[in-house]
Amino acid sequence: MKITLSVIKADIGGYVGHSESHPACLAKAADCLAPAKEKGLLIDYHVTKCGDDLQLIMTHQQGEGDEKIHKLAWDTFVECTEVARKLKLYGVGQDLLADAFSGNVKGMGPGVAEMEISERPSEPVIIFMADKTSAGAWNLPLYKMFADLFNIIGLVIAQNMHGGFAFEVHNVKEHQKIVFNAPEEIYDLLVFIGAPSRYMVKAVYHRETGEIAAVSSTQKLALIAGRYVGKDDPVCIVRAQGQFPAVGEVLEPFTQPVLVEGWMRGSHHGPLMPVAIEDSTPARFDGPPRVIAVGFQLAEGKLIGPRDMLADKSFDKARRLANDLADIMRYHGPFEPHRLPLEEMEYTTMPQVQEKLTGRFEPITD
Ligand code: 13P
Ligand code: 13P
Ligand code: MG
Ligand code: MG
Repeated sequence: MKITLSVIKADIGGYVGHSESHPACLAKAADCLAPAKEKGLLIDYHVTKCGDDLQLIMTHQQGEGDEKIHKLAWDTFVECTEVARKLKLYGVGQDLLADAFSGNVKGMGPGVAEMEISERPSEPVIIFMADKTSAGAWNLPLYKMFADLFNIIGLVIAQNMHGGFAFEVHNVKEHQKIVFNAPEEIYDLLVFIGAPSRYMVKAVYHRETGEIAAVSSTQKLALIAGRYVGKDDPVCIVRAQGQFPAVGEVLEPFTQPVLVEGWMRGSHHGPLMPVAIEDSTPARFDGPPRVIAVGFQLAEGKLIGPRDMLADKSFDKARRLANDLADIMRYHGPFEPHRLPLEEMEYTTMPQVQEKLTGRFEPITD
């Protein structure tokens, strides 16, 4: 049975500021998706949030990039925006950058990750969602999940993954893509994905079967809008067990809270803190950035779950480490490397400052 799993998300308004989603918006989203399930367009759905981002998780048989599914998501975001407007939430309709729907939400502001799969006899999937960070934040964890032998012991001892995984990498600024085969091309792969503001892992494939293993959202809001309008706050779907990493191998990378782009005004580096869904409430300096992981078993497309995977006590130490790292980064205030490097700011907040000072810069003559 072919099933498509679509995760489509948008910030339609924050409560309070950019820290959380209002329950009335989540309830509205569920009301909008219920009729689509009754009519059979959706097999199943689950509405959740990560910080101020509204997350629509949907299963169906329409395939990837389907107009009906994308319109359903867009219309849901528009209706939820109306709820947010009445409550005067913050940044109402923040990620809806187009006036009207035109065939596909890609390029219109929302983030999208979709995969069409043949459901296995048991199909565990983990959906990662992040707030206060950029598309590209999945590069390091995806590398660890699918290529780092110190994380995924399955590559060493399980015959069905000995052939390795292939990484599809997108250059989002030049609109180019390339596929690298792990393990033999990991040095080349890391040259690119080690620069996550430009190169992003879009998808990972099991090489022996060609099966999709993971897919992420790579929409860059600032590139679509041409200015800073909020962070991308990306999502990523990962299949687990069998020829894919075990659930524990999928989650293990988040025990090390590495630095990502985002945090206050989307202009800082900060630790990505793994949290329970209810703790995705970035409040300190609008952060630090958060990641949640929602687990399901698929059963003929039905979403059996969710399980709140990063709520587990074994991530407590990572949370403490992230808070310690947050302190150290905050020591720097407006200085790099807490503040993003200039070339990143030039895409977002620098141009206005520079324009104001035009004519004040003089040549150095002595
Ligand atoms: P169980 O014996 O609990 O099924 O675990 C098997 C396994 O491979 C865990 O990674
Ligand atoms: P969001 O992208 O989550 O809306 O955050 C925007 C921001 O500027 C936080 O300081
Ligand atoms: Mg927001
Ligand atoms: Mg957000």
